[in-house]
Amino acid sequence: MQLTKEELKGYFSDDIFAAISETAEKLGLECYAVGGYVRDIFLKRPSKDIDVVVVGSGIAMAQALGKRLGRHAHVSVFKNFGTAQVKYHKIEIEFVGARRESYQRDSRKPIVENGTLEDDQNRRDFTINALAVCLNAERFGELIDPFNGMENLKDKIIRTPLDPDITFSDDPLRMMRGIRFATQLNFQIEEETFESIARNKERIEIISKERIADELNKILASPVPSIGFVLLDQCGLLSLIFPELANMQGVDSRNGKAHKDNFYHTLEVLDNIAKHTDNLWIRWSALLHDIGKPVCKRWEPKAGWTFHNHNFVGEKMIPNIFRKMKLPMNEKMKYVQKMVGLHMRPIVLAEDIVTDSAVRRLLFDAGDDIDDLMSLCEADITSKNEIRKQKFLDNFQLVRQKLRDLEEKDRIRNFQPPISGEEIMEAFGLRPCKEVGALKSSIKDAILDGVIPNEYEAAYNYMIEKAEKMKLKPIK
Ligand code: CTP
Repeated sequence: MQLTKEELKGYFSDDIFAAISETAEKLGLECYAVGGYVRDIFLKRPSKDIDVVVVGSGIAMAQALGKRLGRHAHVSVFKNFGTAQVKYHKIEIEFVGARRESYQRDSRKPIVENGTLEDDQNRRDFTINALAVCLNAERFGELIDPFNGMENLKDKIIRTPLDPDITFSDDPLRMMRGIRFATQLNFQIEEETFESIARNKERIEIISKERIADELNKILASPVPSIGFVLLDQCGLLSLIFPELANMQGVDSRNGKAHKDNFYHTLEVLDNIAKHTDNLWIRWSALLHDIGKPVCKRWEPKAGWTFHNHNFVGEKMIPNIFRKMKLPMNEKMKYVQKMVGLHMRPIVLAEDIVTDSAVRRLLFDAGDDIDDLMSLCEADITSKNEIRKQKFLDNFQLVRQKLRDLEEKDRIRNFQPPISGEEIMEAFGLRPCKEVGALKSSIKDAILDGVIPNEYEAAYNYMIEKAEKMKLKPIK
């Protein structure tokens, strides 16, 4: 973690940094690399865009640097923000003037004044994000760390540089960022910082839904996403930003029968699937797979607690949740809906005798998402009883084998019924009506049930046979 000044210099060896040094000298300005880029050097994470703070005008610095670098450099100026970006080969550097900011209570828009490096570091979110490395020639590679950011990096601690009430009230998105960093990096949030999040949680309302969704996606993409959701719950943010998920908490017990806590079960499923795949949308599916349970919860004297149809109710809830949270309303949402709606099917198969017909139907309904669905269902087995768990997993292996066998034989995965509605109407001289639908689905059922093979001729003959029973005559 510790690096000598010489080692640290090594991370700034690209030509562009020498050019920054020289330009800064010429203009008589101080320049520092700051923020995520510096933090990630010490964490040995892949580096991204570089932020440079200039004590003076960031725009003037970028323009002078662009001139110096010549035609391979591309400078974009964002006058409204007082920032400028320089692209040089594959490197992108954002220049900003050191600022002193004060915020108003109802807005994230600060009143900005020019400031010193110290002012700039003061207004950053966390000590680990407030590290600066000097890029001026005589102090090149010097680390400026006024808030013990290095110590916090070593001890894996998230803490604000100033009184956390000020830092969070200045920009409430930082509450989400703190929890996100704790999850991504597996850091602890220092006690006072965390208490302040709990105190300031209501301020999250001035943050746009898109930014909140961004942070949630980053939490979900982390190695152990449950860390973030537990923290969101503990500080009280969860019920403000995602009430449906917060609602899943709690255990009811009657006559000595208790159900499991669906929130913690969900988080276990989420962590299980995260070990398996980076796919963000399967992770969302895991997070939402039981979202319908609180609505469907019933006490039945014989069976105890039941959650009948929670998969269908959950599936129906998803468009609303996605709309409210500004998540994409496109095929990603449809995928999550499908996974939630179907998540009980493989387990029913695994519990029962696995018939060809049931497996074909599952293949037909899941299509190309069948492998994801099977992975989700395996992640859903969180029983503490190892024998029971193993039994389920073994049965799932059986279902998977059967899926492979039948797919090879019947090609159901991307199956379209071989006879279309138009063809049926044409064959019997019908207009769109109930009978057309009935014939079409009886052909589909016959194929899925293995009564006839998945072939045109067999389907045609079957249709004529069925139609006869319905007193329909072919016109040719
Ligand atoms: N920053 C801040 N408050 C915010 C956002 C950003 O103080 N709400 C500061 C932090 O010093 C941060 C830097 O601006 O390190 C750059 O922000 P950004 O690129 O959003 O974050 P990174 O820290 O680089 O991390 P990530 O890209 O993972 O978000």
